[in-house]
Amino acid sequence: MLTRRAVLAPIVLGAASFAARPFPSSGPNTFKHGLGTMAASRGRLYGCATSTYQLRDSDFVRALEREATILVAEYEMKRAALQPEPGDYDFTAADALLHFARAHGMAFRGHTLVWHKANPPWLPDALSTRNENLLTGYIQAVAGHYRGQMHSWDVVNEAIAPGAAGNLRETLWLKAFGPNYIDLAFHAARAADPNALLVYNDQGCEAGGANNDRFRAATLDFLERAKARGVPIDAYGMQGHLQAFGTAVDQRKLRDFLERLKALDLRILITEHDVDDSGGPSDIAVRDRAVADASRRFLDVALDNSAVGAVLTWGLSDRFLDFAGWHAMLKGYTPRMLPLDGAFARKPLWNAIAAAFLSAAPAGRAAGR
Ligand code: XIL
Repeated sequence: MLTRRAVLAPIVLGAASFAARPFPSSGPNTFKHGLGTMAASRGRLYGCATSTYQLRDSDFVRALEREATILVAEYEMKRAALQPEPGDYDFTAADALLHFARAHGMAFRGHTLVWHKANPPWLPDALSTRNENLLTGYIQAVAGHYRGQMHSWDVVNEAIAPGAAGNLRETLWLKAFGPNYIDLAFHAARAADPNALLVYNDQGCEAGGANNDRFRAATLDFLERAKARGVPIDAYGMQGHLQAFGTAVDQRKLRDFLERLKALDLRILITEHDVDDSGGPSDIAVRDRAVADASRRFLDVALDNSAVGAVLTWGLSDRFLDFAGWHAMLKGYTPRMLPLDGAFARKPLWNAIAAAFLSAAPAGRAAGR
């Protein structure tokens, strides 16, 4: 039986000292419990974006099994992958990922039903017909295929553009159906899978800059109005993309924003957390420390809010960061944005996330919801 002391003692010791140094060299990579265990001790889930090609690496699978209690597909559930041809669905890869998660007792979240990117090439022309079935029919087919199996769905992703008309990004969806496309999408998703948490997912509200202030104001206005119209949005997905050497999180602004989301009776999921370490010195220890500190600054506030039920990083290991190639060539370094390094060893960011989970208040609902 995994006792709380067995989990907490070495982590708390390591975590307590994490600010000064990462885990003792014998610490992080021998400690058998993962971030999912730490999260669970406070009624939360931890996981990451992954992909079928990563599951072919047995060392990675071992790390994934140890760390994650929820997964999301980085590519396989985007429309370009699921519907390469009109009317033709290919669930093979997405089913394989979901099967892996279920076989390992992990929850699974869907990403994403409606986005302005990662769509099949035939879609923009098809939308000139303004046939709403291109939106609602797709959601019924996909969310219906996974009915009862999903922790949550990112129903609409990145629709807000502060300063644009109605603060909405000018996307192929807005052009085809007007602002009502968002309502149509959420109502179709609720009908297709009444049990999944329905999430509006976006970025832009994390840091403390003036543009982030505008994003927070536009996001709150959007969600307040949608809830008032009876749009079935259950949660706000805060992507959580941070910069180690850019605009820092303003903890007061972030805390206030999250409290206002909670006051709207919304759950909050941190859906794509990572820390971009470009723009800093080449010294890896300095970069790793800055990444860990930026994450801790963010997660300490996020996890102090009982509406936050899960934290997912947008990947688990630096090995699979998809722009490592040209970055390495042009910039002479490879990004170190994730909890594990390219050899799947735990980094100071792992320590920071572990410490944030263990020092947090418990979540206010059933695990991860
Ligand atoms: C990204 C993937 O990580 C990339 O590999 C892909 O080329 C584009 O999509 N916000 C999102 C995610 O909601 O779907 C994006 O994922 C990253 C930004």
